[in-house]
Amino acid sequence: MERETEIGLIEELLGLREAKSHYLDDEIEFNSVDQYQSEVIFQRERDQMFARLPAVAAHVSELPNTGDFVKREIAGRSILVTRDAHGEVRAFLNICRHRGTQLVDDESGCKHRFTCPYHAWSYANTGELVSVPHMDTGFPDLDKAQYSLKSLQCEERFGFIWVIATPDVGFDFDTYYAPIAAEAEGLDLANMAIAHEEKKVHNSNWKILVEGGIESYHFKVAHRKTIGPYFEDNLSSYQMLGDHMRSVLMRSSMHVLRDQPTDQWRLRDHANIIYTFFPTTQLLVQKDHVVWINSRPVSAGQTELRLATLAPKSRLGEEAYWEKNHQITSTTLNEDFVIGESIQNGFASGANDVITFGRFEGALPEFNRTIKRHTAA
Ligand code: FES
Ligand SMILES: [Fe+2]
Repeated sequence: MERETEIGLIEELLGLREAKSHYLDDEIEFNSVDQYQSEVIFQRERDQMFARLPAVAAHVSELPNTGDFVKREIAGRSILVTRDAHGEVRAFLNICRHRGTQLVDDESGCKHRFTCPYHAWSYANTGELVSVPHMDTGFPDLDKAQYSLKSLQCEERFGFIWVIATPDVGFDFDTYYAPIAAEAEGLDLANMAIAHEEKKVHNSNWKILVEGGIESYHFKVAHRKTIGPYFEDNLSSYQMLGDHMRSVLMRSSMHVLRDQPTDQWRLRDHANIIYTFFPTTQLLVQKDHVVWINSRPVSAGQTELRLATLAPKSRLGEEAYWEKNHQITSTTLNEDFVIGESIQNGFASGANDVITFGRFEGALPEFNRTIKRHTAA
């Protein structure tokens, strides 16, 4: 983060605290509960966003060597990500081109060739079809070059491997990430690795889970037994960075900076910074590590979340420390996830046609506006 930005963000929050105010948008706003319940809307989000915008398939540390692969599901599609002999990452639809069997069953491993479990067509980890049993008699004129695995755009950026789950989209990664790229690079995630992780399916819409991370109105209430006491009451700001967002949630320790020269001010020591890489990746930046929250929307009412603590590779050996940190994060976020399920459940009652966002919850309507822009007909 640029120094000037960092100091500006701290000044802004200190000023709001001293004025006993909040970070306020102009008006309260609303969102229809249909946005969280309707399978029709969910399908539109899947087709127009999840299948066409970058999703993280893996952290780079999950495919460190040539031949490594992982299988993932993105936008309902089974996807194979490989690291080829030149060290390049590649992604493919995990579908055999003969009669459509899913090619790879294992979640991860190291292989230079993949053989289909049905009739043993086999493919290189660069996607080319390399052998077809009984080809001369069964497929005399088959042009193998036309039968490579369907390739997907795949980029290594900010320590993650991003994939576009639809072939031939021609996605412009540079433009899409330009407003957030320098800050994301500054996190040095490529030199980190997963110290701890968990994965769980939650019975709530993916947007509810994102929304829980970008406001601090609930901190002193929902998190009163965990992190609530360490944060200011309802004091956070947000900034749109293109479609992405930076949220800054102020810790109660920040006011001590008033007694220190500004050249010693360090935002991440006195705030939680949350980056939302639109739409499904969030990074929670802590003092000495980063929590990666990857969401995989399954249906309107179900979302699988992968929660991983990323630690500097040089400190991975401090297992007990990372485990403790991961548990604190997990316990805290689970308070949000339980509420997320409560909200989803409550929608069915018909009590609310809309939900209401207060002026200090302005990040939420902003996030929803970005979704609606991407899913507009
Ligand atoms: S479906 Fe894969 S080899 Fe036949
Ligand atoms: Fe929360």
